[in-house]
Amino acid sequence: MTTTRTFPSTFTWGSATASYQIEGGVNEGGRGPSIWDTFSHTPGKVLDGDTGDVADDHYHLWREDIELMKELGLHSYRLSIAWPRVQPGGTGPLNEEGVAFYRDLLDGLLDAGIEPVVTLYHWDLPQELQDAGGWVNRETAYAFAEYARHMARELGTRVKVWTTLNEPWCAAYLGYASGEHAPGHTDDAEALAAAHHLNLAHGLAVTAIREELGEEAVCSVTLNLHVYRPVDPGSPADLAAVRRAELVGNEIFLGPMLDGAYPADLVEQVAAVSDFSFVQDGDVELIRQRIDLLGINYYSTSYVRHREEPVSSTGPAVALDDVESLPPSGPLTHMGWNIEPDGLYDLLTSTSRRYPDLPLVVTENGAAFEDEPAEDGQGRIVVHDEQRIDYIARHLDAVARAIEDGADVRGYFVWSLMDNFEWAWGYSRRFGIVRVDYDTLERTPKDSARWYAEVIRTNEVTT
Ligand code: NOJ
Repeated sequence: MTTTRTFPSTFTWGSATASYQIEGGVNEGGRGPSIWDTFSHTPGKVLDGDTGDVADDHYHLWREDIELMKELGLHSYRLSIAWPRVQPGGTGPLNEEGVAFYRDLLDGLLDAGIEPVVTLYHWDLPQELQDAGGWVNRETAYAFAEYARHMARELGTRVKVWTTLNEPWCAAYLGYASGEHAPGHTDDAEALAAAHHLNLAHGLAVTAIREELGEEAVCSVTLNLHVYRPVDPGSPADLAAVRRAELVGNEIFLGPMLDGAYPADLVEQVAAVSDFSFVQDGDVELIRQRIDLLGINYYSTSYVRHREEPVSSTGPAVALDDVESLPPSGPLTHMGWNIEPDGLYDLLTSTSRRYPDLPLVVTENGAAFEDEPAEDGQGRIVVHDEQRIDYIARHLDAVARAIEDGADVRGYFVWSLMDNFEWAWGYSRRFGIVRVDYDTLERTPKDSARWYAEVIRTNEVTT
């Protein structure tokens, strides 16, 4: 039996990318180095030694990429600005050539009838700021706000939605606790300080954008809110483990950004790692700014349970010594992540209940699979990526159900428009609905791209 669900007529259909993952051109147009240039050029940090030096060469091929977006019928495109391209040292003068690149790109999108959603920080911090401590240094938050102000001034009229940060959880915990991401540190206390300074950066940037563009500037942040499930839903200990995981995974951002405080049980839970002395009087007021949209990135769920014998937590699991995360099970994507569309349904409905006046947007969802290009018999390359279609269709069904059940979800952005540099996994993991041949840089829409175009055209999804 199939089910067809129709989306609201105002629903926004989009796709997303990020600067370091697609642009390349790292030494061109006056761009300065970022922490990801340094990290990817450090042996052993990225699989196969891949770097973003060329990536999809979007820096040169962006016009072609806009054509692709047009063919897909995208309403909106979520991109990020590389801070070191527009302000190479992270403070000081702007690099006019870098600003012009984004001005032209935004104009190209607008000419194509595609609304730009711009993320200001998708992890490519100027290296110079890292040399001064990166996100562990409070000053980085102030530098970020000034950069945001510059961008509002320079690009303000062209940008539909401003997103301050993408997934600060990854920037803080993968960057400073597990070391899987740039700058590759492994210090839990640093990760918590980084999380706070990212929060502060968000609040200060929203304020700066509104000072420049007025109250009507549409501001948002994108969080990868985790869906933690108890291994045994009947066990109070497992339910308490879920809460502890949520505190460091979600509440550390939602608390100050939207509720106006760090939860007391979070501060207590991390006490052995950090005394939170990086929080200064008045910070939470600076962080908690009205936002117009909340971006949610969702890929999978995590099953956790109480651990009787605490072990010193490693990886991104800061202060979770007594919480055990089960290895993902069931059919997995090429990232090794489980597939659970109901997690997205639950996340959207619960977040919407919690913040009834805050519209939500799924700013990322999608999957890496080992899709193989084939010849169609007439010399054309085709990619039959049924698994990706199935993944996206089932998650869209979850979005539609959430809307039917009252969640205020305004749009969906598939990750990603095209295959790209998947951080520590380099080019080995392909998330695109468009294939990129890394030898020729040729773009080939996969079956999922044609399918997604049809979803957009009909405003319906069938599962
Ligand atoms: C989240 C990140 O924002 C994006 O950069 C990444 O490629 C995808 N998820 C997939 O891991």
